[in-house]
Amino acid sequence: MSGSTIEKHSDQIGMPKWDIDTPALLVDVSAMEQNISKMAKFASAEGVSLRPYIKTHKSTILAQKQLAAGAVGIGCAKLGEAEVMAAAGINDILIGNQIIGVAKIERLINLARNTDVIVAVDNRQNVDQLSTTAAAKGVKIRIIVELDVGLHRCGVKPGEAALSLAKYVDTAPGLKFCGFMGYEGHLQHVAEPEERATRVKEDVGLLVKTAEMAKLAGLRVDIVSASGTVTYKETGKLPGIIEIQPGTYIFMDSNYYPIMPDFERALTVLATVVSHPEEDYVLIDAGSKALSTESGMPEIKDIAGAKLTRVWEEHGKVELGEPSLRLKIGDKIEIYPSHVCTTVNLYDQYFAISNDRVEAVWEIDARGKLT
Ligand SMILES: Cc1ncc(COP(=O)(O)O)c(C=O)c1O
Repeated sequence: MSGSTIEKHSDQIGMPKWDIDTPALLVDVSAMEQNISKMAKFASAEGVSLRPYIKTHKSTILAQKQLAAGAVGIGCAKLGEAEVMAAAGINDILIGNQIIGVAKIERLINLARNTDVIVAVDNRQNVDQLSTTAAAKGVKIRIIVELDVGLHRCGVKPGEAALSLAKYVDTAPGLKFCGFMGYEGHLQHVAEPEERATRVKEDVGLLVKTAEMAKLAGLRVDIVSASGTVTYKETGKLPGIIEIQPGTYIFMDSNYYPIMPDFERALTVLATVVSHPEEDYVLIDAGSKALSTESGMPEIKDIAGAKLTRVWEEHGKVELGEPSLRLKIGDKIEIYPSHVCTTVNLYDQYFAISNDRVEAVWEIDARGKLT
């Protein structure tokens, strides 16, 4: 945490959480620590390495907590996130995304001078750009080949196409091939564990098979990485998987929670009732600039019958069906985000809450790092 953050918020330490000005992002410290520890223990018991995807929390303090609990390194979605993490002294960083264009590749090369950074590729053109620049600058960059295991986002096709790209990377000057990754995002909403296990075996199995083909072809494969929060068990137990890279588990959210209750919902948005125009609804001061809604409406915590039904930019409408409490103007409520990653990105800091009081204020220092 930067000194300025500590100074700026020192007067809030010890404050009851209900006195925090709103909208604000609260972390239940005990629930979050339970989540961090549960995933770390799972990985250790299964003999897989844990590389948490930090685009969920975007905070160096929280990444350090995950590393202290046993993570081997971290995963980032963006180069800008990786730069912030590296500046805080984190060394083993996978950027599970394509770094395209001269400006970004120059930044990547600078990052790689002092940090053990791994970058995903899915095409030869990108490999050529990375190789030419890295070789010219005398830097070696570790490369992971990204496979499309069914999400149909980035990624080369598993099997021969991926093997061919891996061989191409392996001989490219300035680059060091280190393995394969494939995020099974399309399986994160498969609710039925047996079906999930079958589909992970089929789809993530393609990643494992490709890694085996590469080994048979004489390539050295140090990393075979996959998994999200919902598939962590099925993917983590799949023979041949070397690393898992879940992100959301640290906080969980109301979108994943019904199908993956292994983790506690540790993150809430604190909001204030600002208007009560009709008996059956109130308005709160948290709208779409305080709560993301692309994964559905967030859920109100601990007030039965109260439902967030609509958001505007600065307002949220809470309908008060029975048996909800009769909320009054000035009351504060907590809301579970439906998607924690995009909600966190709206805030500058977390209020870390223990026993209903502010224990610390943590900077979200990689917030907004989109490039
Ligand atoms: C490449 C990659 N790895 C890991 C994750 C983490 O997944 P989850 O948020 O389901 O834990 C994501 C999330 O989008 C991702 O894109």
